Parts: sequence; C-alpha cells; structure tokens
Amino acid sequence: MNLLVTGAAGFVGSRVAAKLLEAGHTVAVFDDLSIGSPENVPEGAELIEGDLRDADAIRHAVVGCDAVVHLAAQALVPESVENPQKAIDINLVGGTNLLEAMRKERVKRLVHSSTAAVYGTPTKVPIEEDDPKMPINPYGGTKLAFEALLQSYHAAYGFHVTAFRYFNPYGPTENHHPETHAIPNFINASLTGKPVPLFWNGEQTRDFFFVDDIARAHVMGLERDGFNIYNLGSGSGHKVRDVVELIFKLTGKDSGIEDLGERAGDPPQLLADTTRARTELGWEPEVSLEDGLKQTITAFEKRLNKD
Ligand SMILES: NC(=O)c1ccc[n+]([C@@H]2O[C@H](COP(=O)([O-])OP(=O)(O)OC[C@H]3O[C@@H](n4cnc5c(N)ncnc54)[C@H](O)[C@@H]3O)[C@@H](O)[C@H]2O)c1
Repeated sequence: MNLLVTGAAGFVGSRVAAKLLEAGHTVAVFDDLSIGSPENVPEGAELIEGDLRDADAIRHAVVGCDAVVHLAAQALVPESVENPQKAIDINLVGGTNLLEAMRKERVKRLVHSSTAAVYGTPTKVPIEEDDPKMPINPYGGTKLAFEALLQSYHAAYGFHVTAFRYFNPYGPTENHHPETHAIPNFINASLTGKPVPLFWNGEQTRDFFFVDDIARAHVMGLERDGFNIYNLGSGSGHKVRDVVELIFKLTGKDSGIEDLGERAGDPPQLLADTTRARTELGWEPEVSLEDGLKQTITAFEKRLNKD
C-alpha cells in the first residue's frame, strides 16, 4: 500500500515506519520535526515536513495514499496539563484536519495511536478495552475525544479504523527533551552515575513493552476492516523497582535511588488486558524486557558517547 505515516520522525513512529517498509509498503512521513528528527526517518521513506494544524499541508500529503498511520501528536502529559490548548490544537483540531483531508481525498483506512491515558485511574486491573474511560489530563482527554471522532467517521463515511491504546512503550529511539518517561530516565541516570528518581519507592506496577512490538501491531492493524480498538502492552507488568534493578545489572552501574515520595494521580498499578489483540489480530509481544532493555541501553550509550 501507499502509506502516509504521521509523526514518524519521533520515537514510536520511526519504528512503525521501518516495519511498514519491511512489510513491503511504500511510506511517506508527515512530521513538523517539532520533537522528532530527520535522522529517525528510516531509509526508503520520503519526509514531508508539515504541521497537522495546516489543513492544506495535510490534504496535499494525503493525495494518492491508500491508508494513513497516524502517530503525530502532542504526546507529553505534563505539557498537556500546562498548555491544554496546544494538545487540543494538535491532537483534536490537527487530527480533524487529517480526517477531513482523508474524507475529501477518499482515503478510508486509518491506523491510530491512542493511549492507556484514556482510562485515567483504572477501576480494576488488568484493564480491558470496554472498562470505564475517565481521563485525568488533557492529553488523555484529547485522545479519547479523537477516538469518538474516529468512530463517527467509521459510521458516517465507512472509514476502516484500528486504534491502539499503548501502555508503557520503551526503546532505542526514545529521546525527548525534557524526558518524562521512566525507562529513558532510569537508563540515563544509571549511565551517567546519577541516582535514579523514583516515585513511591518504585513500588508501582507498569506495563512496559518494546517499541518494535508496537510496530508489528500497526502492520497487522492495517489489514483490519471495520472499527477496532486494541490495548497494547506486555500483559504481565513489572514492578518499577525491579526494572531499575535490571537496568543496574545490565549497565553494570548501580547509581542508587532517589525516592521522590508520593505523586498525586499516580495509580499503583497499570496493566493491559491484551486478550483482544491476541485473539483478533494474533499479536503477541515478542521481545522480553531484558532483551529490549539491552537494545535500548546500547543505543543510549552510543548517544551519550556522541554528545
Ligand atoms: N511514548 C509513549 O509512551 C506513548 C504511549 C501511548 C501513546 N503514545 C502515542 O504514540 C504516538 C507517538 O508517540 P511518541 O512517544 O513517539 O511521541 P514523539 O513526540 O516522539 O513523536 C511524535 C511526532 O509527532 C511530531 N509532531 C508533533 N506535533 C506535530 C504536528 N502538529 N504536525 C506534525 N507532526 C507533529 C513530532 O515532531 C514527533 O516526531 C503519539 O500519538 C502518542 O500519543 C505514546
């Protein structure tokens, strides 16, 4: 298929674009490079520099596509709390520009990156797709609202939509400034000999899984007709403290822990029920935490040595 992949100069999108190329698709990347970098765009993909908030730019990019894989977003929770308007402008208004471009150009197939943040504080774990959705920050709110728009474009215009709610991905291409995610901060702290900052003394459980496992799911999601929503996570979960200990073991550098105490709104357990993705898509995470961390640490070491 001829694909447009938005946000593929970023952490997850770059790996998704690479897997789509490997699967034989033609890939053009639409990204404003506000966060991502051209170096992340895989070889063989064309880079179209543009902003989702520019309706003409995204319409132009969609012409001639068979499907769109949509990852571009304002994706940082703290930034969305500071500046909700920006999250709304990019995730909802920009997202709508994309849907309208697709509708007008008769492109009716979309794979979308949603998030576990649509659930807010879970009422139970593991979380199933039909469990209550009560986002606790504007990022989660915009993602949930966009899912509702996708549902309406499916019903009104026959769009085929697959949306993936990722839990806690990590991987070599993650390089945000500031970095708000746990694993890159743990690895950077360990490699640079600084204490690892931990809330709740690391007693929480999170559903960490490797970015290439997400990427494979997107290749599968393109083939689905209708309207589909899937959780993506390891399905087993890891205590944060155990992940830090494993990172210390793999880097050979135990830089100690800085306990940051309690954090409001931080659920003790986040865990995906991935039964639906397993049964309907045949998707299973394939990369173990240890193997994924090894690949991630190697990439971070290279980056630190270069800087
Ligand atoms: N990383 C996670 O933990 C996580 C978890 C759940 C869901 N997601 C979702 O996955 C997707 C990718 O996340 P990521 O972590 O790779 O983020 P990222 O910030 O690394 O990548 C997003 C990309 O979108 C681009 N972008 C941002 N605003 C844009 C705009 N207005 N127009 C065009 N391009 C724009 C950025 O330059 C960047 O390259 C996002 O939709 C995010 O909400 C991520």
